[in-house]
Amino acid sequence: MHPYIPIVLGTARKGRQSEHVAQYIYNTLKNNKEAIFELVDVRNYLVESRTIPPWENSNIAKPWRDIVAKSSAFIFVVPEYNRGYPGEFKMLLDQEFKGYNKKPALIVSVSSGGFGGVRMAEHLIPTLRYMGFHLLSQDIQVPKVEEFVKMSMEEKDQTLKEKIEKMVDALIEKKND
Ligand SMILES: Cc1cc2nc3c(=O)[nH]c(=O)nc-3n(C[C@H](O)[C@H](O)[C@H](O)COP(=O)(O)O)c2cc1C
Repeated sequence: MHPYIPIVLGTARKGRQSEHVAQYIYNTLKNNKEAIFELVDVRNYLVESRTIPPWENSNIAKPWRDIVAKSSAFIFVVPEYNRGYPGEFKMLLDQEFKGYNKKPALIVSVSSGGFGGVRMAEHLIPTLRYMGFHLLSQDIQVPKVEEFVKMSMEEKDQTLKEKIEKMVDALIEKKND
């Protein structure tokens, strides 16, 4: 069976620019023959604004837990907020634990500034590692996201396509480790 890889958009902010990045990644990968990709928006998984830990049986957490159970690997598209990651993304992740074990993950960090969210990624990495994800040794950064959003499709491809495809190959290979 083909691996299922969700592209998780980690912010619910109104007017979020990261949505365009996640959408671009999905459009780039949707015809990939090696895996099935789906855009998963944190907004649709936060019905109740409180942490629901893995040991709490919950209909609200079930959709995310189901996604995790069928996933082979993950792509996390996450913006930098005050050098950290959005609280809603942490609430989403905290709903599950064992299901993450040994699943490969790629971080795509996004910012309006020039560093592309690297400082956010440095905070996110220890959390994801503790949760059991097998992170790729490299992340992808999207700096100056407003400029990226305004680019033509050709320019977007020049900026990101090759990087994404290379890292997705690595995600699929790691899954087969
Ligand atoms: C609460 C908040 C804090 C932010 N802090 C940072 C930051 O520390 N560093 C940075 O480069 N950009 C920061 N930004 C700007 C985001 O990088 C910018 O909004 C970008 O478009 C990505 O996030 P978005 O998907 O919410 O649009 C912040 C934005 C918000 C809403």
